Amino acid sequence: MAGAGGKVYSFQEVSEHKDRNDCWLIIAGKVYDVSPFMEDHPGGDEVLLACTGKDATADFEDIGHTETAKELMPKYCIGEVDASTVPAKPAYRVVSEDVNPKQEAASQGAWLTAMQLVVPVVLLGMAFALQNFAKARTE
Ligand code: HEM
Repeated sequence: MAGAGGKVYSFQEVSEHKDRNDCWLIIAGKVYDVSPFMEDHPGGDEVLLACTGKDATADFEDIGHTETAKELMPKYCIGEVDASTVPAKPAYRVVSEDVNPKQEAASQGAWLTAMQLVVPVVLLGMAFALQNFAKARTE
């Protein structure tokens, strides 16, 4: 089924249009060529550029665009994206493959405890050495 523009594009093809004068967006399965709108977009062109190469539906919705914005959209619609070519978004971000944050925190804690013991002992040792040195000089 084709959209207003009558064409179905692959995700890869849409992603290639990511410049200020050639900018395509994917919003709710439709493809928009917003190149003529870049300078007029009230949110600026940078946000539009940042939304290329991905499904921009969430970004578009998060702004809470008004009906006025939605009425403008058909003007820029050139077709639809082939849903099977859109990469699935990860549901969560993997922080690190091999470091367990709890383990890391625990080892940091142990290091801090060790330093809390070592530093006063070293300072005390130095104080004694200084005292002995001063005593030896006055004798
Ligand atoms: C065909 C696509 C788009 C159209 C026609 C469009 C249109 C508009 C319009 C008319 C406004 C003025 C406020 C309103 O009436 O809602 C606006 C604001 C804005 N838009 Fe878009 N927009 C599009 C896509 C996007 C995308 C993908 C983003 C990415 C985050 C975005 C971000 C913003 C931002 C940040 C504002 C400013 C909001 C504010 O300052 O309150 N827009 N847009």
